[in-house]
Amino acid sequence: MADLDLIPTVFRDDVQAIVLEEAEIDARLDELAAEVDRDYAGRQPLLVGVLKGAIFVMADLARRLTVSSAMDFMACSSYGSATRSSGVVRILKDLDSDIERRDVLIVEDIVDSGLTLDYLIKNLRSRNPASVEVLSLLTKPSRREVDLPIRYVGFEVPDVFVVGYGLDYAERYRGLRHIVSLRPEVYGS
Ligand code: IMP
Repeated sequence: MADLDLIPTVFRDDVQAIVLEEAEIDARLDELAAEVDRDYAGRQPLLVGVLKGAIFVMADLARRLTVSSAMDFMACSSYGSATRSSGVVRILKDLDSDIERRDVLIVEDIVDSGLTLDYLIKNLRSRNPASVEVLSLLTKPSRREVDLPIRYVGFEVPDVFVVGYGLDYAERYRGLRHIVSLRPEVYGS
């Protein structure tokens, strides 16, 4: 287990444990980018980042790819409690681009219940893209409520609330370089 010295002091008391260190995330992104490059050779995928959590995955993946990719973003809100989604999804920011006949690769930070992504996949498929695939840095399989085709998965994590590397709790901790679990008293469960 890595040392909490890696966490800025202002956040250190909130952290339970480091779940994934920056170096592990980097190494896994190298592998995922190589897979995407191989699978999309000769094509021009449109990477669709889901704001805000996917910003660093998107930035770090896109910079590793050697295929010619484009980027677009969506923002959704999922009604529910602070740490659980309800599946009722509202699009806050839609894509700028028309995805008809495009190869769309949705880039996610984490798939938890899967309800948000289930909605997104159906929504994007209805726009007649050539293909829709999903890359998610993290997945919590034990919490899945719908069966989803996630083509590229970075890491499976247990059922703990994690923050950092884009993931937040109440908009905090997104800028942490490592992915960490929070002490339960921080998010009141
Ligand atoms: P789902 O609809 O339950 O799959 O939830 C997906 C969204 O909930 C993710 O894109 C995150 O924004 C948020 N989320 C789920 N689990 C976590 C977590 O452990 N930490 C931070 N955000 C999470």
